[in-house]
Amino acid sequence: MRANGAALERLEDRRVAVSGALDREHRSTFGQFFTPGAVAGFMASLLDFRVGEAIHLLDPGAGIGSLTAAVAQHAGKWRMRVTCYELEPAFQAELKETLAGLPNVSAEVQARDFIEHAVLLVTGNRSPGCTHAILNPPYRKINTDSSHRMLMRKLGLETTNLYTCFLAGTVALCAPGAQVVAIIPRSFMNGLYFKPFRYWLMGRVAITHIHVFDRRDAAFADDEVLQENVILRMIVGADQGSVEVSVSTDQRFADVRKRPCEFAEIVTPGDDERFLHVPTLGSSSSAGLPGFSLRELGLDVCTGPVVDFRLRDHINRQAEPGAVPLLYASHFAGGRFEWPKQGRKPNSIFRNAETERWLMAKGCYVILRRFSSKEEKRRVVAYLFDGDALPGDAVGFENHLNVIHEDRHGLPPDVARGLVAYLNSQAVDDYFRVFSGHTQVNATDLRRLKYPSRADLQKLGED
Ligand SMILES: C[S@@+](CC[C@H](N)C(=O)[O-])C[C@H]1O[C@@H](n2cnc3c(N)ncnc32)[C@H](O)[C@@H]1O
Repeated sequence: MRANGAALERLEDRRVAVSGALDREHRSTFGQFFTPGAVAGFMASLLDFRVGEAIHLLDPGAGIGSLTAAVAQHAGKWRMRVTCYELEPAFQAELKETLAGLPNVSAEVQARDFIEHAVLLVTGNRSPGCTHAILNPPYRKINTDSSHRMLMRKLGLETTNLYTCFLAGTVALCAPGAQVVAIIPRSFMNGLYFKPFRYWLMGRVAITHIHVFDRRDAAFADDEVLQENVILRMIVGADQGSVEVSVSTDQRFADVRKRPCEFAEIVTPGDDERFLHVPTLGSSSSAGLPGFSLRELGLDVCTGPVVDFRLRDHINRQAEPGAVPLLYASHFAGGRFEWPKQGRKPNSIFRNAETERWLMAKGCYVILRRFSSKEEKRRVVAYLFDGDALPGDAVGFENHLNVIHEDRHGLPPDVARGLVAYLNSQAVDDYFRVFSGHTQVNATDLRRLKYPSRADLQKLGED
C-alpha cells in the first residue's frame, strides 16, 4: 500500500528534469523551486497520524507533488485524502502522474490560485478542515495593491510576501489540532515588515518544531537558491509549549542536533516585536563562544540616535565650523572608516539646544551597520570609531548604525579594539548565521550575544 522507494527515486529524477527544463527567470518570478527528496522526507517525518483519524492532507503550490509523495511514503499503512493546488499548467500533468503512483492516496488537484480559493472557502464558511498540511510555498514580495494582499486582509492579515499568504491560507483551511509542516524563508522570524504576520501566526498556532540549516544554501542546493530557509511544524489552535529545535549542516541531514527549548528562549517574553530566535545547539559554529553579556561587561548597545529627517535643518553636507561629525552607514563601508566622505550623505550636524540630546560624547566606540551591504559577505562587520581623531567634542550617529557604548560614552580603546576583533571573528559570524538568520544586525541580537571577559577583550585589543 505504500509509495515505494523506487517511485520516490524516479520522482527525484523528474524533479531535476522538470526544474532544468524551466526558464530560470520564470521559475524565480513564480517561486518554482522544488523540494529535494531528502528535505521532503524530513518534513514528512514530522507529521504524526492517529488511529481512527480520517486524514485530509493539504499541499498548496504542490509543484510535481514531491511533498505529498513523501507524506504518502511516511504514512505507510494509513490511507489519506489529499488536496493539491497548482497553478502552473506545465506541472499539472507531472503532478497527476505522481499522485497516480501513490496507492494510499486519493487526490484532488485544484488547478487554480490557492490564495483566491482559500479566501473564498474561508469567507464562505466552507473551510475543508484539513487535518494535515505540508508546504513549500512560492516566495516573492507582493505590492501594496496586489490582489493577494487585498485578499489576505479578509483573513485579517497585512502581509508583504507570497509565502506568508500561503501559510496563512493553509492555517485557515485547517481544523483545530491539525499539523502543518512548512519550509519557508527565515525572513519572517525577525524582519520588521513581518510583525503583523508573526502576531497573526502565533495567535493561531503553536510552534512545536523548528529546523534550521547551518549553511545558507543548504535546502535547495541544486537550484542555487541562496535564501535561508527554516522548517516549521505547527499545531493549529494549540497552546504554545516547548519547541523542539534541530539543526543540520545541510539537506543531507547527516548530523542533526536537537534539543527541546522553552518558548521563552525563542520569543523573549515581553518583546513587542515578537522576534523569533533560534537558540544555538552547540553546533560547530556556536561552540566555544564565551559567556558574558554586554550588560555583564558594563556595556550596552543602541541604534544611532540621530534620525536625520527630524533634524534636517541642522544637518550639513560638509564639515562646517560649529558642527560636529555626523556618521552614516556609508562612512563605514568595505571594512574602512572614512570621514568626511563626498557622496549622497551629509557629514556634519550643528551642536545646539535642539540637537544636543541626540549627540554622543566624543570617544572610542564600536560601530556595526544594522543592514549589511550586498557586497559584504560577512553579516557582522564591526568598526572601531575613534572620535579623538575627528574635530568637535561630540558626535552624531545616524539611525542605521548600532553603537556599542559605556553609559553613552566611549569605551577604553583596548576594550573597543578587542570587541572589534572578537565581533569580526569567524566564530561570531557563524553564530549569527545560525542564531539570527537574516542580514540585519539588531541591537537585541548584539545584546544576546556572549562576549569574552573585559580582561580578555583588553588582551585581544593589545595584540
Ligand atoms: C516553491 S514551489 C514548491 C513546489 C512543491 N511544493 C515542492 O515542494 O516541490 C511553489 C509552487 O507553487 C506554485 N504556485 C505559485 N503561485 C501559486 C498560486 N497562487 N496558487 C497555486 N500554486 C501556486 C508554483 O507554480 C510552484 O509549483
